Amino acid sequence: MIEDLATLDMAPLDAILEEYAGQKGAVIPILQHAQEAFGYLPKEVLAEISKRTRIPVSQLIGVATFYAQFRLDRRGKHLIRVCDGTACHVRGASKCIEAVEKSLHVAAGSTSEDYEYTMEIVYCLGSCGLAPVAVVDDKVLGRLTPNSLVDQLSGLD
Ligand code: FES
Repeated sequence: MIEDLATLDMAPLDAILEEYAGQKGAVIPILQHAQEAFGYLPKEVLAEISKRTRIPVSQLIGVATFYAQFRLDRRGKHLIRVCDGTACHVRGASKCIEAVEKSLHVAAGSTSEDYEYTMEIVYCLGSCGLAPVAVVDDKVLGRLTPNSLVDQLSGLD
């Protein structure tokens, strides 16, 4: 479930904080569950967790920024990770990236205004034999062309 900030309801935190009440070292599971509930970790949620657990916000942010699994910014509904590592680059990854930028109005490294897409550029997904490669919502797409990538992304619901 991804919450809209305008309607951010802190109710999901009740059960999460109750489950870990008084437990030392529970920062990571609390943040994991909060991220599952909100889709990311908005600063309002971190402030609320801090208020109720008395864990300083700075500590929560420190943990959230240390571990790659945590997100402090809202992501799009679909996460597109396009590889621009050497094997993919020489096989035209940059043209695929440009095609996505133009067609879906999402710049590399950012999220579209409608929060449909987030595009990240990565540097080797370990599938160089399929270059150029992208991973879209955990699905590996290989031997891409700009058109095939845009077509597959446009078909997402
Ligand atoms: S360089 Fe792209 S998968 Fe390895």
